Order: sequence, then C-alpha cells, then structure tokens
Amino acid sequence: MQVRAGIFDSGVGGLTVAEALHRLAPSLPISYLADTAFFPYGNRTAEEVADRALVLARTLIAGGATVIVVACNTASSAALERLRAELTIPVVGMEPPVKPAVERSRSRTVAVLATTGTVSGARLARLTERHSGDATVTTIAMPGLADLVEAGETASERVRTMLSDALRGPVAEGVDEVALGCTHYGFLRPTLAALLPASVEVLDAAEPVARRVLAVMAEAGQDVPAGPPQEVLCYATGDADSFEATIQRLRDGGAALPPLRVLRPVA
Ligand code: DGL
Repeated sequence: MQVRAGIFDSGVGGLTVAEALHRLAPSLPISYLADTAFFPYGNRTAEEVADRALVLARTLIAGGATVIVVACNTASSAALERLRAELTIPVVGMEPPVKPAVERSRSRTVAVLATTGTVSGARLARLTERHSGDATVTTIAMPGLADLVEAGETASERVRTMLSDALRGPVAEGVDEVALGCTHYGFLRPTLAALLPASVEVLDAAEPVARRVLAVMAEAGQDVPAGPPQEVLCYATGDADSFEATIQRLRDGGAALPPLRVLRPVA
C-alpha cells in the first residue's frame, strides 16, 4: 500500500506540523494543502470552515492521501466530527495543549492563545473544563495574529506588541505555561521566548500530533516506507507565488521548515 499523509490548514500554520512529521519520519510522503483562498479561518463561522475542511480533505484523498491531518485548531474545532463521519480513512485533528500545560504548571496558572473561532468554540470550552482541575486557565483570542504570520511576520514590532499586550495580564498573575492553540503561532516561539520571563514555558501541539499521526497509521497497517527523505509537496488554493513568498519570508526569519516544493495549480 502506497501511504501518504495529507495535511491541511488555512495557510502556512500547519507547516509546523508537517515539519514535526517530516522530522520524525523523513521518508513518509506528505502532501500539504493551504487553503489560502479562504484564509483566515479564525473569523469564519464553524459551518463555513467545516465545508472547506471537507473539500480540502477530499482533494488530498484524490491526490493519494491515506491519512488526513487537520493541522489547524480552528478547523479541528469546527469539522473533526464531520470529517470522521464522512471520510473512510483515518483523520487526526488537533487541540490546544491545555492538558499538558495544566499538568506542567507549578503556579497553577495557564494561558491559551488561539483564534477567535477556537476560543468561542465548544471544543475548547469542553477541553478546559475537563482538564483545568485546580488551575486557572485563561483563553485569549488573538484576532489578526495568524494574519501577520501568514504575511511572513514572526518578529515584527506589530507581532511583539500584540503578544506583549495579550500576555502582560497573565504574566502579572503568575502564568508559567502558555499553550499555543493555533498552528500559525508555532512560528512565534522564538519571539515569545524573548518576550516572556524565563520561568514561562511555551507549549505547542505540533510534535504530539505528528506522533499521533504515526501511531494512527501504524494501527491502520500503514507502514512508513523505507527510503530517502521526501520533500513535502505543497499546494495552495490561492495564489501560489504569494504562498511561496511567505514561506521564503518565514525561512529568512529562521523558521524551522521541512524540505518542500510548492506545486501549482490546485483544482
Ligand atoms: N492555523 C489555524 C489554527 O490552527 C488558524 C489560522 C486562521 O485563522 O486561519 O487555528
């Protein structure tokens, strides 16, 4: 069986997951679909996002994907149940790493940064209710932040101001774990590390999700083929040139990215 992981997100954010998956299994063929024509998901209704998620997953399956990775918290929140109900191949989604953040917090004070869509969704509410325990978990919507990352900005003045404005209160209240609930924010780790006190840990879910993908593939009998490292094949539903330019800006800014090729066009 020819296996292939099909990963999608609204834009470049899910490349943080693609990078982790490629790092753990370099010979695994990976297709990456960025729904840049519909970016950002964070401001859309759950129904719109779920409709897009289904279109993207079917596109990836038509291109040979044997497992779907929803590398977007907003789309996972809006569409995971529907994708699992309508597709016949395994679907791995993601959620903000609230559970590990609570487990690791010594101050029992945790902040979660996510898009407006994720913060207002029932999935994150359920997650915090289930895992908070005696900790205070504050969820913070960051409208516009993924847009800056999508423009290739990861350390600009605007990004730093947005992050320090959002985190000033939580830091004053003693937060010691910041959970990243949007895959785009993974690219902001160095900026966050520079802004936050050294006692604050930043967690994202890229690597745990990549591990989960490999576990789900193994359970489904999908063996990662032996062989040389593969390039991640990337497609965008919007303009491929500007998608490629964003990737170049991220690379120039020192972002960890897998070896990749941007292909065009997509149906
Ligand atoms: N990367 C997406 C997430 O993880 C959202 C970015 C957007 O608003 O489209 O939530």
